[in-house]
Amino acid sequence: MAIRITPSILNADFADLTRELARIESADLVHVDVMDNHFVPNLTVGLPVVERIVAASPLPVDAHLMIADPDRWAPAYAEAGCASVTFHAEAAVAPIRLAREIRSAGARAALAVRPTTDLTPYLDYIDELDMILVMTVEPGFGGQKFLPQTLPTIAAARRAIAESGRDVWLQVDGGISRDTVAEAARAGADTFVAGSAVYGADDPAAEVTALRELAEAAQQD
Ligand code: DX5
Ligand code: ZN
Repeated sequence: MAIRITPSILNADFADLTRELARIESADLVHVDVMDNHFVPNLTVGLPVVERIVAASPLPVDAHLMIADPDRWAPAYAEAGCASVTFHAEAAVAPIRLAREIRSAGARAALAVRPTTDLTPYLDYIDELDMILVMTVEPGFGGQKFLPQTLPTIAAARRAIAESGRDVWLQVDGGISRDTVAEAARAGADTFVAGSAVYGADDPAAEVTALRELAEAAQQD
């Protein structure tokens, strides 16, 4: 199983994103957190800024939409050129229709669950998805502590993906660092968001490589 590291720019310098994007060249995608102050109690960037990030980034963009009414807004992020668009199960009214719209606009379609959301009903529709995101903190802020209670959800998602026979990515987001990446990988995650761990490091690209090596080693266990 390929390991992917997708650093979040939430804790990067928003006034100098071009430089910040160039500091993670060893990553697979760049994770952009879109928050609307409704679905989560925080406000970040919206479509015009994401369009500019897509244009400026050497890496493909992984958009994580923590917004109300993704049925209305998410397809535009795919049309803007994001490689992957993640919407939240708790916010989507018609997740299957939405996943299909995202795919037909040319992006990978991904469904996210908060730490306390039951993922089980969505696993029946795994063929409609290219990635599942299990939040390992309550969404809204960087720098929070990894919630180990989410490990069984990660493991259940991995089992469902294996049964499907499809290469659905399994992403974790929140509190991923050198201390937690191995346990998430052992539970079955293959795609790792890391915000403060990467942008808090002196050498973000080296930190990405270190996280990748720890995840790869954990997979061999
Ligand atoms: C939190 C965001 C995360 C956040 C991760 O709601 O979805 O992507 O930036 O930050 P760390 O890695 O610091 O927990
Ligand atoms: Zn995120």
